[in-house]
Amino acid sequence: MSLTATTPAVPPSSSAHAQESSQTPSLADVLDALRAAGEETRLRVLLLLSEGELTVSDLARVLGQSQPRVSRHIKILLDAKLIERHREGSWIVLRLGGNASMIKVVRTALEALAPCLPERQHDRAQLELIKQERHERAQLFFAREAANWNTLRNLHVDETQVEAAVTEFAGPGPFSQLIDLGTGTGRILELLAPHCSRAIGFDVNADMLAYARVQLDQPALRHCQVRRGDISRLPEFYGSADLVTLHQVLHILSDPAGVLGEAARLLVPGGYILIVDFAPHDLEYLRAEQSHARLGLSQGQMKRWLDAAGLKLLKHVDLAPEQDGNLTVSIWLAERPVATPLRKRKANTI
Ligand SMILES: C[S@@+](CC[C@H](N)C(=O)[O-])C[C@H]1O[C@@H](n2cnc3c(N)ncnc32)[C@H](O)[C@@H]1O
Repeated sequence: MSLTATTPAVPPSSSAHAQESSQTPSLADVLDALRAAGEETRLRVLLLLSEGELTVSDLARVLGQSQPRVSRHIKILLDAKLIERHREGSWIVLRLGGNASMIKVVRTALEALAPCLPERQHDRAQLELIKQERHERAQLFFAREAANWNTLRNLHVDETQVEAAVTEFAGPGPFSQLIDLGTGTGRILELLAPHCSRAIGFDVNADMLAYARVQLDQPALRHCQVRRGDISRLPEFYGSADLVTLHQVLHILSDPAGVLGEAARLLVPGGYILIVDFAPHDLEYLRAEQSHARLGLSQGQMKRWLDAAGLKLLKHVDLAPEQDGNLTVSIWLAERPVATPLRKRKANTI
């Protein structure tokens, strides 16, 4: 692999931090939370969610209770802000909620209370079963798709070298919130997890997300989550990230400039965006076989899109492959300048 930097290196500092909901909760909130949690089924629900995201139907299955009954408990926990939910198509996905300090308190209390719950062993066994089933479904999907992925991976620079460069470009952080757009199997979340307090990956593909959830189901990655969502429209997350990543995504999009504009709106002032994609190439068949909308992205094109999004290019590198005919991977790091207001959404800028 050869390495060509075309702009001076500017290491990211950790000056930009997303505003995280980590203030000390009010006494009223704590009392509400304690009252809501003080019931056996709800403690079981909290313990199950402390091990990862689950749907209402997963919970009903583990608890051996009807969905309406479980939903009533869920509502109480939602009202007390102990858990939060998001919709994924027809699914409602639940996780431990909102305020970071409250989550810490809840986790500590749950650890102490777990041995007192008679159903704990049963719940754990049922949860393992659900995870195992998910794992098998995800493996089936990947067995179908692996051929495509491996073909593409073999066409460019060795992944470990790309990942080393990504880690170096991102810098040590620490980042308060990483948002990975088009997260696929969640690899970028896993890679950058040690450098951030919270990491969210968005993707439209439910099969990819199912696989990502299995990959992220590790104690060291509890602060990482994936969500189903269209990356061209994420208004709820505006101004919340100090690092946004787009790894091998822009070349498949019909409106990459629009998504870069949206990525800029996700950033806090001073936040960074890290983009990894192919340099221009002429492998025409990738349009049909791998849904590539563009055969790579040029420096000029990227600079225009970043400018249009109000982002400032900090550095860029081309990782050329050892083998002739393989694809060059480009990495760009840009910043949302502190003084720049967020640009409003507008028609495509190409
Ligand atoms: C080539 S894959 C890259 C996945 C991952 N970033 C990686 O490098 O392993 C592109 C991903 O973008 C997702 N994607 C495409 N358009 C999207 C959209 N509008 N909103 C959310 N995800 C999208 C696809 O589902 C796919 O998982």
